[in-house]
Amino acid sequence: MPRRLLVTSALPYANGAIHLGHLVEYIQTDIWVRFQRMRGHEVHYVCADDTHGTAIMLRAEKEGITPEQLIARVRDEHMHDFAGFHVGFDHYGSTHDAQTRAVVEDIYRKLRDDAKLITTRPVEQFFDPVKSLFLPDRFIKGTCPKCGAKNQYGDACEVCGSTYNPTDLIDPYSTVSGATPVRRSSEHWFFQLGRCEAFLRPFTQDVRADGTWFLEQPEARNKIREWFDAGLADWDISRDAPYFGFEIPDAPGKYFYVWLDAPIGYLGSFRHLCDRDGGPDFADFTDPQRAQAAGTELVHFIGKDILYFHALFWPATLHFAGYRPPTHVYAHGFLTVNGEKMSKSRGTFITARSWLDLGLDPEWLRYYYAAKLNASMEDIDLNLDDFVARVNSDLVGKFVNIASRSAKFVVERFDGVLADVPASQWPDDLPPRTELLEQIARHYDARDFGKAMRDIMAVADTFNAQVDRVAPWVLAKAPGEAVRLHQACSQFLDGFRFLAVALSPVLPALAARAGAFLNDPSMQRWEAAERPLPAGHRINTYEHLMTRVDPKRIAALVDANRDNLQPAAPAAVAAPSTPEPAVVTDTAPATPVPGDAPSAVAPVAPTISIDDFAKIDLRVARVAEAHAVDGADKLVKLILDVGSEQRQVFAGIKAHYTPEALVGRHVVMVANLAPRKMRFGESQGMVLAASFDGGGGVFLLDLDPGAAPGMRVK
Ligand code: MSP
Ligand code: ZN
Repeated sequence: MPRRLLVTSALPYANGAIHLGHLVEYIQTDIWVRFQRMRGHEVHYVCADDTHGTAIMLRAEKEGITPEQLIARVRDEHMHDFAGFHVGFDHYGSTHDAQTRAVVEDIYRKLRDDAKLITTRPVEQFFDPVKSLFLPDRFIKGTCPKCGAKNQYGDACEVCGSTYNPTDLIDPYSTVSGATPVRRSSEHWFFQLGRCEAFLRPFTQDVRADGTWFLEQPEARNKIREWFDAGLADWDISRDAPYFGFEIPDAPGKYFYVWLDAPIGYLGSFRHLCDRDGGPDFADFTDPQRAQAAGTELVHFIGKDILYFHALFWPATLHFAGYRPPTHVYAHGFLTVNGEKMSKSRGTFITARSWLDLGLDPEWLRYYYAAKLNASMEDIDLNLDDFVARVNSDLVGKFVNIASRSAKFVVERFDGVLADVPASQWPDDLPPRTELLEQIARHYDARDFGKAMRDIMAVADTFNAQVDRVAPWVLAKAPGEAVRLHQACSQFLDGFRFLAVALSPVLPALAARAGAFLNDPSMQRWEAAERPLPAGHRINTYEHLMTRVDPKRIAALVDANRDNLQPAAPAAVAAPSTPEPAVVTDTAPATPVPGDAPSAVAPVAPTISIDDFAKIDLRVARVAEAHAVDGADKLVKLILDVGSEQRQVFAGIKAHYTPEALVGRHVVMVANLAPRKMRFGESQGMVLAASFDGGGGVFLLDLDPGAAPGMRVK
């Protein structure tokens, strides 16, 4: 019986670019969807942009456009990125479209009028008196009530890790206007989640009669159980104007909170498909009785961070509004790059766009993710060195290599016609062909892609060993070996074809090229791999299938994603960081040796927030005077004109600049560095210069014409 599946990936926010972290999910889902289709199942795969909320409203305002213009542009960008990575949605919608609005209103009315699960009550919240705006927690900052750290967000402290309410913050301020927020009360609409527990507990915790679970992942079930134990609170589903979203029916000035309508966007997007000629029937997938009769499934792929919304709110809203709840929610872990959280300063916050713009093959990433993914919620790491090695070894060295070492003999010597390869002819050291194929299929179905890739590469290894042993290029030169050459190469191409079919969900473009070269449209079906092509089948000329990953291109990718605002910290020359002036001169950079290759490229320091950076007052200064310092052979005494005042600074640059050459030039100085007493006098700041830690020259920062003393550098 073919399955009938409606599959979704989480809806990306319309206020940011798609990055490699997102792609874990979209690639995971797309592989699963392609696999199910190859097996003959009916699959509708939809997604959309998640467009509502205060953040999007404010961002549009900042860009001087309407939220509608912003979300239209971002949606185009997102669709382009997804297509570039072969993520093949059947429809990519928007939570702001009419289809979503219609379902949102229908669900809301049913929850309110039929289920009677909507109540209202006043809520006191922080309000920005300058912007006339209720402030989401993320737009309030202040001093942590627990540890006293400054500039912490309204919901949690990044320094001590404690969580609290924005109203607990000391000296709160609005990050939108800088104003001190005031407390203000307004009426809010609530969904009474607490009253849904009798449905939700068994729904999320118990195995179904047919042996399946809503949450197959035990760690997901445990997480949900913790939430039950903590008690289910009513869910605040309204936000006050101004807000970008859908107005709540019969509640002027009140808008649905973004998380209420976001998952409904799945159904809004699906509606578009249903409205097409010959499209699926909406009710078959959304009405409980119809869905039951039609045997349809609703399957969501999400990241572990949004499990709460998908495993509690979402099934409850659907069920109590008379819609069918999801059949499965599958959560994946988070992406790290080189073992760490993606970071803009390290260049590992890699956008989908930069990958495609640099001409990197999207299937390299699809394969690497497949090799790393399993059915658990564990985080997955993209190690860039391992990535290069793995793709080159597995895809180019193993998979493609089988075809590139055997196809040309078939084409050149046998007119492209394959010899007979009996179905029984399958390497002894592998499990039987159809059994192995079923095993790989089970791994795909269970989202254990890593295991599928391991089984597939074991087949590639076996065939490569055979190619090595038989050495067609030797046979081709030996007289009287034509029959053996023909049979061997046909058999190797059969192995290659088996692999191409098994890899199709992961590498759809490469598999399509393989299908074109093997002249075999049947490869779009999984069963095609069960038996060899018939004798006499004619293949086409072998075309180059995949290039190796050049590590230099990955380095360029990281460079392209490095945030230019946070370069490697400029070497601060001068007023030394150690208290003893004598030590200063000792640590001053050595005299450069011409041609000496500097080696000490320091790793980029841990990231700091923009607020940390803002604490440093960098100013343009003009060197008014420069003097050698008696008794200090590395220091120059500078008198700097910073516009409003003059500063005296000792800088360890004598080996690199003569005092005369410095007079009159503009430099960048740290103006708010605490003054330090030195043997020769007080140093009142520091000038910035570039250098390697291990020596190799010191270079003062230059300023373009127009920069004047006293200007801030930021
Ligand atoms: N808009 C919500 C989802 C609404 S679904 C009704 C959202 N958007 S998101 O853009 O932040 O994330 C979209 C998906 O990408 C989420 O499932 C999220 O878990 C996933 N990921 C975002 N960053 C990720 C990583 N670094 N690693 C893996 N997945 C990540 O959440
Ligand atoms: Zn704190």
